[in-house]
Amino acid sequence: MRDEAVRTATEAKGFLSESEGRKLFDLALEASLLGPCLEIGGYCGKSAVFLAEGCRLGGRNPLLSIDHHRGSAEQQPGEPYFDPELFDAGTRTVNTLPEFQRTIRRAGLLDWVIPVVGESVRVSRCWGESRSLGLVFIDGGHGILDVLADFGEWSGRVCTGGYLCFHDVIPDPEKGGQSPNRVFEHARGLEIWKYEGLFETLGVLRRL
Ligand SMILES: C[S@@+](CC[C@H](N)C(=O)[O-])C[C@H]1O[C@@H](n2cnc3c(N)ncnc32)[C@H](O)[C@@H]1O
Repeated sequence: MRDEAVRTATEAKGFLSESEGRKLFDLALEASLLGPCLEIGGYCGKSAVFLAEGCRLGGRNPLLSIDHHRGSAEQQPGEPYFDPELFDAGTRTVNTLPEFQRTIRRAGLLDWVIPVVGESVRVSRCWGESRSLGLVFIDGGHGILDVLADFGEWSGRVCTGGYLCFHDVIPDPEKGGQSPNRVFEHARGLEIWKYEGLFETLGVLRRL
């Protein structure tokens, strides 16, 4: 990875450790040779930089980054992950799109990221049936219905040999929310997915 990309990603606001990011980079480098990579939950661009840097080095397919950029439930005013710097006083809403765009520009990755501003399930319904994605990274809404919907809508679009990744897979209920872990464990039990490992809280499956 270029130093400039690592620096930009580590300085960006977000919820991913550098080692999880580097794992995403490795996976995207390989998977983007099979097809475009897609993330749900772009936020301020941290995971997008790691993924898109892998796509850039692969030289074939870009990253599509889906986010409505209005923030998840826990990022709203009064909630534990609210960040006042991301609150647009004019519209009185959270808006992470300007920060996302700044991060991608700073990392020199404008040609390798296609931002898709919308609600993930609605975007999926416009997608068609094609099983063409090299990698899907699920890091959008963290409620059980959100994670289940993203898994249900997008996992079927991963091509053979491609990766399905979940963030915030936390096996110990004392240490964090359980929705990504529950859906990850469900997927892991299905015979089309091979378990590749849990890297900190990044759960990785590969499509057989
Ligand atoms: C935990 S943050 C993503 C963090 C990011 N991947 C990073 O590297 O820091 C979750 C993001 O998902 C977005 N989101 C939540 N539900 C969504 C939905 N149904 N469709 C699209 N985006 C959604 C929120 O706006 C928020 O930006």
